[in-house]
Amino acid sequence: MATEQQTTESGVGSGTESLTVTDNRTGKTYELPIADGTVRGLDLRQIKVDDDDFGLMSYDPAFTNTASCRSAITYIDGEAGILEHRGYSIAELCEKSTFLEVAYLLIWGELPTKAQLERWVFDVTHHTFVHEDLKHLFEGFRYDAHPMGMLLSGVGALSTFYPDAKQINDEEERYMAAVRLIAKVPTLAAFSYRHNMGLPYVYPDNELSFAENFLSMVFKKTEARHTPKPELTKALDVLFILHADHEQNCSTNAVRGVGSSDVDPYSAVAAGVAALYGPLHGGANEAVLRMLRRIDSVDNIPDFLARVKDREEKLMGFGHRVYKNYDPRARIIQEHMDAVFEATEYNPLVEIARELEKQALADEYFTERKLYPNVDFYSGIIYEAMGIPTDMFTLLFAIPRTAGWVAQWMEMQEDPDKKIARPRQIYTGERERSYVAMADREGPEKIVGPPARRPKRPRRGA
Ligand code: ACO
Repeated sequence: MATEQQTTESGVGSGTESLTVTDNRTGKTYELPIADGTVRGLDLRQIKVDDDDFGLMSYDPAFTNTASCRSAITYIDGEAGILEHRGYSIAELCEKSTFLEVAYLLIWGELPTKAQLERWVFDVTHHTFVHEDLKHLFEGFRYDAHPMGMLLSGVGALSTFYPDAKQINDEEERYMAAVRLIAKVPTLAAFSYRHNMGLPYVYPDNELSFAENFLSMVFKKTEARHTPKPELTKALDVLFILHADHEQNCSTNAVRGVGSSDVDPYSAVAAGVAALYGPLHGGANEAVLRMLRRIDSVDNIPDFLARVKDREEKLMGFGHRVYKNYDPRARIIQEHMDAVFEATEYNPLVEIARELEKQALADEYFTERKLYPNVDFYSGIIYEAMGIPTDMFTLLFAIPRTAGWVAQWMEMQEDPDKKIARPRQIYTGERERSYVAMADREGPEKIVGPPARRPKRPRRGA
């Protein structure tokens, strides 16, 4: 077999940090450089059967083995169950830090000094109000609109209130967008909840901490100032830290993908909110609660797990693309559950959840597939104990994740490798057909539309 040695554009010779590939179609051998444990997808393009060939591509539809960027924000070792932000372990941050300090760390790269933190907290606290017109926009939603749909629109609409944010290379505009997003997303989230409940919107209170202010905007009734119980504020702040960033997850990838078009950061973050809305991502804790209610009693767990193994059900809150071990965040949530239950009513669903976890982890189906509880398995139970309705759970994920989205968006702007995200495809359709006149068309008489047997859902309103 003839072997033709070629080097890549970067001109690597034979060395240990390279990959030698032989194309069995042509017998040619190529040497691809390895950097940071990766080969560049574009280096495959030189592998061709002839000059007319486009060149080899890699196929990875769900990015299961493709690094889409270089990042210094969050480190995850999924096999070992490790999560660190800027090198600090999530457990230590939850124990010693606050959400706003972690947000600063994620975005600016270092823990703030006292003066830096004071300025940061002041700026975030003093940008929590939203324009009254945004409130009017929210008033136009149906009374039962899902709060995530409202938040998605609200975050997108922010771009129209701050058009200067389009200047994404202006440092001051970037700083203001970071502050405004972190400050205003809780306000929009709380407004969407109050709308859904038919309650008047509550304006932010600058005298309260970040977590206290959010709880006040959600729960305040007629009292002059709503001061939540410290156990709840602490637990919520820890939950916010736990959800602040998680490297290149579905919603962060959406923020980076959309942001790569150089759109303003509000529009990019709106894409993140949309991605988070999905039941396989941020919507999972909502789905966990619905699942636990359907299971109803610990006696029904064996039957439920049998249905999961028959693929009639999915064990929501279990499994993770990256963690093939216990999600460290799920462990920390468990540690805070008892404190929350002491300050609130006990949630009986916790017994079903704990027994479900026990039985699943004793079952080969789950252990063989390395399926362990993820962050969403227990978070919904705490939120419910705090009195937060199920529809709102994903909002409580979106609020802190905004810090991560902003940090990742900022990092992307500085990345010399930044380019508009534009994947390739493997085209599987027809080619070069001639248009067929209507009278000459043959084929099945099937009319495309919803299945006839689908029961009609009652529709309210116009
Ligand atoms: N229940 C039952 N089986 C599962 C589950 C589950 N929750 N998750 C994965 N599996 C099975 C799959 O059926 C598959 O089995 P197979 O190899 O026999 O076909 C195997 O485990 C591997 O699963 P994949 O779907 O390939 O894993 P993937 O990495 O694509 O999916 C995901 C990860 C989406 C999180 C998945 O585990 C899931 O749907 N979990 C439930 C939803 C959930 O909790 N999402 C929250 C994720 S955390 C977050 O977003 C904050």
